[in-house]
Amino acid sequence: MTSPPSSSHVAESFPDLVIPDRDFADATAVADWLGDHRNPLTDRANTSGALLLRGFPLATATDFHACVEALDLDRGHARFSYRDSLSNAVRIDRTDRVFTANEAPPEATIRLHHELAQTPVYPRHLLFFCERAAEMGGATALCRSDDLYDILAKRFTDFVRSVEQHGVVYRHVMPSEDDPTSSMGRSWRSTLSVESRDEATARLAALGYSSRWLDGDDVEVLTPPLPGTLALADGRTSFFNQIVATRSWRDCRNDPEQAARLGNGDPIPLDLRNVIAEQTDALAIDLDWQVGDLAMLDNHRVQHGRRPFQGKRSVLVAFGARA
Ligand SMILES: [Fe+2]
Repeated sequence: MTSPPSSSHVAESFPDLVIPDRDFADATAVADWLGDHRNPLTDRANTSGALLLRGFPLATATDFHACVEALDLDRGHARFSYRDSLSNAVRIDRTDRVFTANEAPPEATIRLHHELAQTPVYPRHLLFFCERAAEMGGATALCRSDDLYDILAKRFTDFVRSVEQHGVVYRHVMPSEDDPTSSMGRSWRSTLSVESRDEATARLAALGYSSRWLDGDDVEVLTPPLPGTLALADGRTSFFNQIVATRSWRDCRNDPEQAARLGNGDPIPLDLRNVIAEQTDALAIDLDWQVGDLAMLDNHRVQHGRRPFQGKRSVLVAFGARA
């Protein structure tokens, strides 16, 4: 396999690119190769934050499923499925292992975020697969969150210290049925894998959330204070939260103003979130998808988001192990 020269975390190696230098007969052959090289490939993804495999003969959700299985990011842990997750996005399972990225409307921008950082349980890695590229737009934006932390810790020292000291509380109102017009429209029934209000209340309490039932069978939930930064294995720190993404937590039930606060109850003003978002966007690069692309992200180190698009676009996702 060939790849650009690697270095610590310069733009040329982010994402780190893997291109085949021999022919692969089919997706099974690719999966076999991935299985044989899963450790060095995972190491490269962890070092860069993102690994892009381009030019391999992969086309379908089934192909992607085989690759996910071969990479075995669960490494002995129980499989982490969309159903198991507290993701607030509406997604569609394509196999019992892979699902659509987000069914939010094409014109919606999905802000940069760490996957499920607004919940107590998040995946260590994410795998993406481009089944169909958009006619225009639709890139996945990527941002090194350790670089972001270094900048924010210098520029907003007191705020970053408060985030580290108190954590972040997220507020979110879930509908009783999926709302596909919203990027955060997953129902409480689906999110919590329950059928009744009593079951939902009990599950939320077990997770440490507080909850309040609203008119229309909606439920307002407040997370416990969740960590807003994460220590990485190489000694760096990641700005691991959903503070930027909460700016777009807007639908007929949700108001960005109320979507995030510090764990001590202090607000995180929208003005400040906007400035942090500008800094995050300034560090972001676009992964412009080509059909068949497979990407592995270190969810601890890297934030991702989705640019708006035109035409049809199909990017599939799988979660690695909970971590
Ligand atoms: Fe995401």
